[in-house]
Amino acid sequence: MLLCCSLSMDSLDLLSPYLFKYKRRNFLVKDKLRPKDFDALQDVELRPTDIFLCAYPKSGTIWMQQVLIQIMDAAHPEQTEEATNRVRVPMLEGRTADDPFRERPDPRIYRSHLPPDMLPRGVKAQPTKVVYVWRNPKDVLVSLYHFAQSWVMLETPQSFEEFFQQFLEGNVYMGSWFDHVREFYAARDQLNIHFVQYENMLKDLRGEVVKLCDFLGKDLTDEAIDHVVEMSTFKSMKTNPTANYKDFNETDRYKKETMRKGIAGDWKNHFTVAQNEEFDQMFKEKMSDFPLACTWELKK
Ligand code: A3P
Repeated sequence: MLLCCSLSMDSLDLLSPYLFKYKRRNFLVKDKLRPKDFDALQDVELRPTDIFLCAYPKSGTIWMQQVLIQIMDAAHPEQTEEATNRVRVPMLEGRTADDPFRERPDPRIYRSHLPPDMLPRGVKAQPTKVVYVWRNPKDVLVSLYHFAQSWVMLETPQSFEEFFQQFLEGNVYMGSWFDHVREFYAARDQLNIHFVQYENMLKDLRGEVVKLCDFLGKDLTDEAIDHVVEMSTFKSMKTNPTANYKDFNETDRYKKETMRKGIAGDWKNHFTVAQNEEFDQMFKEKMSDFPLACTWELKK
């Protein structure tokens, strides 16, 4: 057994003891997924009614997970369940050929951090719907820095300075933020995709829920929409064990709460002036031709 593990480790393109590189992205050494498993995901059989929730890590994935589940519960009340959101909207990168999730009734929702070229080929067949959540990368960096101190799968950063450089270089879990966002935007003509900005959800959650219902073809009453919003606020999710991954704290997989601050502009509490200038310079180089504008902070 040991021999087999070390053989499979040897064949990995290691970036660090915690991350290996595959197809320009970085994946978890401590996880069971290996390059062949990622390749196999391309052949996962999809249904036209499947929905994909895609996001770069720490961009609001579990928030959107809760929003989508609440919308689906309102639209398909016969399918509501007690199970946690993690079970109801599982990670695509955890699926196996005999996955019982395959038997779930429509509509199934998968969540994934994978870039578009690594998603199942069927996602490109319309009408499979993709919801892509994205967030300003300075706050993503800060959130991921804290998460790396929490999640046992990731290396605890030596310092914020070191992690800052790793993020800019794309040497973090899943690789470059810049590539991820650009690649989803570039794939918009091949995907049936709806972009949602984390900061817009902070500004006007109801407005974003209405747009999502429209995209998903779910006709909810005003009361039902209010309920979705109420169940998806930071305050409500923080105390809701089906939505906040508390069980991961209890089983020691997360050392800290995943519902950390939930705000825009926390980077201002972490970046030095010099780091901010360096980040802005990198952002300009990588994103100057990118048409979507980031929201760096929200006025109170
Ligand atoms: P912070 O670490 O900045 O607080 P992901 O789910 O992709 O891992 O993203 C986690 C981030 O989303 C965390 O950010 C978390 O607090 C934030 N988040 C989760 N639910 C939220 C909500 N209802 N409102 C605002 N932010 C939320």
